[in-house]
Amino acid sequence: MNIAVRYYSRGGNTKKVADAIAKAVGVEAKDCSVPINGPVDLLFLGGSVYWGGIDKNLKQFIARLKPENVKCVAAFGTSALKKEPDGETEKLVEGRSIPVSKHSFHCRGAFSAMHKGHPDSSDLKQAAAFAATALKDLK
Ligand SMILES: Cc1cc2nc3c(=O)[nH]c(=O)nc-3n(C[C@H](O)[C@H](O)[C@H](O)COP(=O)(O)O)c2cc1C
Repeated sequence: MNIAVRYYSRGGNTKKVADAIAKAVGVEAKDCSVPINGPVDLLFLGGSVYWGGIDKNLKQFIARLKPENVKCVAAFGTSALKKEPDGETEKLVEGRSIPVSKHSFHCRGAFSAMHKGHPDSSDLKQAAAFAATALKDLK
């Protein structure tokens, strides 16, 4: 089973979640500037919301995915107010004809004075549980 974790994180919140997911499934989380080269059964893909949408680096990463190399994507992310509008990551992935896991994970991320300390240890525990479930359901 090949598993990969990629994320885009400006401030470090989403990286914390990516690291918790990666630890739970026994791989290393990498920034989305690192491409997926070989075949992957499950790609955990994370980002955040900046002014209402995901970052262009994450969009570019999705645009460069090779559908024949990626069997399934499970999305995760952090934001201050709400999940990505309309599941932007999932939609872009599906638009590349890559299947999306029914499991996803989202939590609050600190922004200015809001949600200080998030993601916290409880968020990261939930992220690890999400990773285990997404992996179990793939097998
Ligand atoms: C420039 C900027 C714009 C943001 N815009 C939004 C937004 O439109 N909606 C929202 O829910 N959160 C917004 N946030 C909050 C981030 O989504 C949140 O802090 C997130 O956890 C940041 O993740 P990161 O530390 O991995 O970059 C914004 C944060 C920044 C820095």
